[in-house]
Amino acid sequence: MTAADDAAELAPAQVAGPVLSVRQVDAYHAMAVVAPRIARGFRPGQFVAVAVGGPDTSMLLRRAFSIHDVRADHGGTVEFVFAARGPGTRWLADRRPRDVIDITGPLGRPFPLPRDCVSCLLIGGGYGSAPLFPLAGKLRARGCPVDFLLGAASADRVFGSLTARRTGRSATITTEDGSLGVRGMVTDALARVIHESRTDVIYACGPMPMLRAVTGFADRYEIPVFASVEESMACGIGVCMTCVLPVTGDDGVTRMVRSCVDGPVFRGQAVRWDDVGTIPFDALGAPGWRPPEPADPPQAQPDAQDGRRHAG
Ligand SMILES: Cc1cc2nc3c(=O)[nH]c(=O)nc-3n(C[C@H](O)[C@H](O)[C@H](O)COP(=O)(O)OP(=O)(O)OC[C@H]3O[C@@H](n4cnc5c(N)ncnc54)[C@H](O)[C@@H]3O)c2cc1C
Ligand code: FES
Repeated sequence: MTAADDAAELAPAQVAGPVLSVRQVDAYHAMAVVAPRIARGFRPGQFVAVAVGGPDTSMLLRRAFSIHDVRADHGGTVEFVFAARGPGTRWLADRRPRDVIDITGPLGRPFPLPRDCVSCLLIGGGYGSAPLFPLAGKLRARGCPVDFLLGAASADRVFGSLTARRTGRSATITTEDGSLGVRGMVTDALARVIHESRTDVIYACGPMPMLRAVTGFADRYEIPVFASVEESMACGIGVCMTCVLPVTGDDGVTRMVRSCVDGPVFRGQAVRWDDVGTIPFDALGAPGWRPPEPADPPQAQPDAQDGRRHAG
């Protein structure tokens, strides 16, 4: 296989795939679709964009879902987990095995994997834990200990607590109503988990307020966070700029970047969480942006003769 063939394998594909299964998992639905090209190219943290409503629909925009699992059966299947909450996801929940759906993927940048064996804490909010399980598999294969911290409003909205308990070195569950695990939010348990697990790096996926709070907390311990953000998306392929958010680069410049192609995974500390949903005044191209001041030229050192001249 040539490098060009390899690149083609990893490139996103649009697939008309038969639905293999639709399962109700507590408050969510898990849908597996036969899509070998998407399964082959997948890396944890990537997502699919699914056309909803059928050929005559007025719902023109694809819906984005993180990939939860890929399997080799039927040449390659892709599974995603979703909450049926609006017209598009309700339509998806009504699909049955052998219905064909139009699905594009794998899209976006995956979670970066550590080079060394480090202690990883995976934090998921609601269905946001779905993409953390394939990531956990990759981390464990590298010898990294994996701890889970999963939270939601209530027990039926915590996705994957049993798998987390079975496969994680530790698994802490929080629910706001106290129906499972510790009562409260993931951030209420975060300090204890970080101490007990001696966390080196955090991977997080869930609602934006959770990602913001987790990043703020991790900052106190100087722990890097890789956060998978959920910004509203229209095209999913980098064309429409619907999904932009302000991210500060290593050069100190804030840019409006597209979460569909530059993300959805970002270094949490680089995202300007307080400014998400706005274009900060000082972002590149915004009215307040100024090019960085050029560095001061090095001071000319007085030579021996000058030194003598100014000495007295
Ligand atoms: C990278 C990414 C991964 C996601 N992963 C999952 C997942 O694993 N499971 C899951 O249930 N949901 C996930 N979402 C959110 C999911 O895309 C929305 O819930 C879904 O599009 C809602 O569609 P709807 O027609 O049911 O609802 P509506 O609210 O009627 O949607 C109307 C429009 O708004 C957009 N939209 C609405 N809510 C969201 C949202 N929260 N985020 C982004 N766009 C939204 C839709 O794309 C659509 O264009 C993800 C979103 C992104 C961006
Ligand atoms: S959704 Fe269109 S550019 Fe990201």
